[in-house]
Amino acid sequence: MGEVKLLPPEVRKLIAAGEVIESPANVVKELVENSLDAQAQSIYVETLQGGKRLIEVRDNGRGILKEDLPKVILEGATSKIERAEDLFAVQTLGFRGEALSSIAKVSRLSLTSRHFSQDRGYQLIVQGGKAGPLREVAHPVGTTVAVEELFFNLPVRLKFLKGAKTERKYIAETVINYALAHPQVAFTLVQDGKTFFELKPASLEERILELFNLDYPPQRREAQSEIGRAEIFYYTNYRSNKFFIFLNGRPIFNRELQTYLKNKLGYKTLAVLRLEIPPYLVDVNVHPRKEEVRFLKPKKVLELIGCLFEREKAPLPPAEILKSPTEVDYLKPPRFEILGQVEETLIVAYRGGFVYFFDQHLLDEVVRFSLLGDETKACKRSIKAGQKLSKGEMEKLIRDWEALGQPPTCPHGRPIFYKIPVEEIFKKLGRS
Ligand SMILES: Nc1ncnc2c1ncn2[C@@H]1O[C@H](COP(=O)(O)OP(=O)(O)OP(=O)(O)O)[C@@H](O)[C@H]1O
Ligand SMILES: [Mg+2]
Repeated sequence: MGEVKLLPPEVRKLIAAGEVIESPANVVKELVENSLDAQAQSIYVETLQGGKRLIEVRDNGRGILKEDLPKVILEGATSKIERAEDLFAVQTLGFRGEALSSIAKVSRLSLTSRHFSQDRGYQLIVQGGKAGPLREVAHPVGTTVAVEELFFNLPVRLKFLKGAKTERKYIAETVINYALAHPQVAFTLVQDGKTFFELKPASLEERILELFNLDYPPQRREAQSEIGRAEIFYYTNYRSNKFFIFLNGRPIFNRELQTYLKNKLGYKTLAVLRLEIPPYLVDVNVHPRKEEVRFLKPKKVLELIGCLFEREKAPLPPAEILKSPTEVDYLKPPRFEILGQVEETLIVAYRGGFVYFFDQHLLDEVVRFSLLGDETKACKRSIKAGQKLSKGEMEKLIRDWEALGQPPTCPHGRPIFYKIPVEEIFKKLGRS
């Protein structure tokens, strides 16, 4: 069975509607988001004529299954959410299943991918939304999307595009945004044959220094509250003003927060603010291009940011506290109830109407990877399949994974869990 499903109409109706693709930079944004969601470690973006002639994004992420390739260009096709309630805890950048279909309708698109479980790649060419046959091609694990002649069939929208130079600038700004939001990922941007940057995996501080060509470290502050954590890097008296805000790895636009930072740090500031707030306290489904989000506790978010500037020098909280925000009742997601272990390999647990099957090795591996930053070491030190676990051990594994923001896949891109709605089991048993 494939990984991509069509969202049912009742879920599609709930998704913020509107134009997804208005410019080449919008295409770049969507494709880069897809690469990041596919856990790519390296993303290559190339464009010609400000993206009007070509936009190509290549990644080394998990890839797309052969059988899913024809599906992903359909409206509402996604592997990221399945039902309405998933919209309240979106863990990925994408969730609407709209981007590729919107792009495919207004361009000549070629989609080439090799899934990590397959030994060959496949390619699909789509012209104005109509897909040709699937072809076998050589391709490393990962995905390449090439978008040619954007809006070839929409002359009006074509007319509204800016000159190549301006579109190039918008594209560069878009890639810079994601490169800052995900410094651990390598990014390359080539426009009209010229390499703008080639960024190696780095810490956020290193990435800021490299991207903005600075040779002295930024100021840094960090804060923690019941709602989550915030970290800011900034240079005051910078030559222009740039305020980047990232929420759970997603660049967001938020006038209130921008104004707050401008007032605090002065107009001529370069600042990168990273916020981590549990996904169920954020509504990402308020803007068709996902540029804005709604905080369910906006006051608490402002308070958290206020904490950044409370003392002259904000002390760094110990690492342990950073990972698990203070537990206040209304902030708690439903708890996992451990049901048991199967074949000393799977942890079975229940939460909010779903039965989850976790791979115990991957669960441990992803947590260790976050601490060690080294895939091989993380893998070696993790709990293996075939090890009996106590209830307490299983609870701890799941708690640590939750504290990490519940990543859906391990560093290699394998899914960490599989979940079945209890409702589905009821149906199978004739009880509905
Ligand atoms: N680079 C990629 N690597 C792996 N899978 C991909 C990639 N790009 C797209 N996909 C698959 O295609 C599906 C459709 O992508 P698309 O961008 O249209 O929707 P989405 O990301 O699910 O939601 P959104 O419309 O909000 O971006 C994804 O859910 C994912 O399964
Ligand atoms: Mg997407």
